[in-house]
Amino acid sequence: MIYLDHHAATPICEPALLAMNAGSSAAWANPSSAHTAGRGARALLERARAQIADAIGAQAADVVLTSGGSEACNLGVLGVQGLAGGQHVVTTEIEHPAVAQALRRLETDAGIAVSRLAVPAGAPPSAEQLAAALRPETRLCALQWINHETGAILPVADYGQVCRAAGVVFFVDATQAAGKLPIDVATLGADLVALASHKLGGPAGAGALWVRRGLQLSPVITGGSQERGRRAGSPDVLHAVGFGAACAQLRERLAAQPRLQSLRAHTAAELQRLGGVLNGDLGNTIATVVNASFAGRRGDELVAALDLEGVCVASGAACSSGLSEPSPVLLAMYPSERWRASSALRLSFGPETTETEVESALEALARVLSRRAA
Ligand SMILES: Cc1ncc(COP(=O)(O)O)c(C=O)c1O
Repeated sequence: MIYLDHHAATPICEPALLAMNAGSSAAWANPSSAHTAGRGARALLERARAQIADAIGAQAADVVLTSGGSEACNLGVLGVQGLAGGQHVVTTEIEHPAVAQALRRLETDAGIAVSRLAVPAGAPPSAEQLAAALRPETRLCALQWINHETGAILPVADYGQVCRAAGVVFFVDATQAAGKLPIDVATLGADLVALASHKLGGPAGAGALWVRRGLQLSPVITGGSQERGRRAGSPDVLHAVGFGAACAQLRERLAAQPRLQSLRAHTAAELQRLGGVLNGDLGNTIATVVNASFAGRRGDELVAALDLEGVCVASGAACSSGLSEPSPVLLAMYPSERWRASSALRLSFGPETTETEVESALEALARVLSRRAA
């Protein structure tokens, strides 16, 4: 099997597997229990929290552990204290549903106005455009760092300066950025940063929200006072252990980026040779992904045909796979070329991806494309 779907989930890295194996005899206990078993689990949990914090230049006390990226995004958007009817939020048109749907809930349930900035052909809004979208009643700006489908990189540090100057809370969905770009919350200018374990070599089922010290956050999951009252529920210690261990080797993941850059350039050129039209601007996308549309073909059918050839790729976000719906990201990026959204293929790479695998995948794609569309 050739796996080129690292934006959906990364294979679990060996340090994470080893740490989970080693921790499994202690991680089952409830870390809130005062006895020896509970304290053992607590030690594992706190070590994981410290590793996650370390990877983004943060203090462990400011990291809220969650069940994944979606929960971290929901908490970062819905948990901002004081968000109320009549206020205003700024976002983009290309957010992951974890952010987009949370914002829709604010709009429909709480009477909060939401402005969605356009990202035409993958060109992100400039800091000036963001500043122009702010209103006196703007309370929150919530957007992603790297787009999950096309890899578009948004200038979040510039946005951070705008938000700080305006006193607007700034949430960054860094789910696709962690492990691909260095993250330092001290210089990012964000107030809230969401991460997910299974995008950076850890197991699915773990995520985190970094919260700027002093920012008041209301829990979305209510109940006990775990996670300093910001996320109720007994935590999944074992998955946090894997997440922490994966975070401890993020430097190695980052070191793979230059190689992936040339691998991606080659792949993009080959996809174009095969008749694909690239989605997004390669000059401003992360090296781990290339997205191309094939006119007259359906993305979901190409994905299925490639799977039969032993190649795992995607046509859109994993969370909407199986729905056969055109990609909302590509619809927003290319409103006058709707065909792109239902004809897209996304190939995404990780440090494990080899040149040989990519060559074989491209050969398989050439075979698939040479067959007539159904
Ligand atoms: C940009 C982005 N945000 C949020 C998420 C949600 O993360 P999770 O799958 O861990 O819930 C994803 C997952 O694909 C993502 O790509």
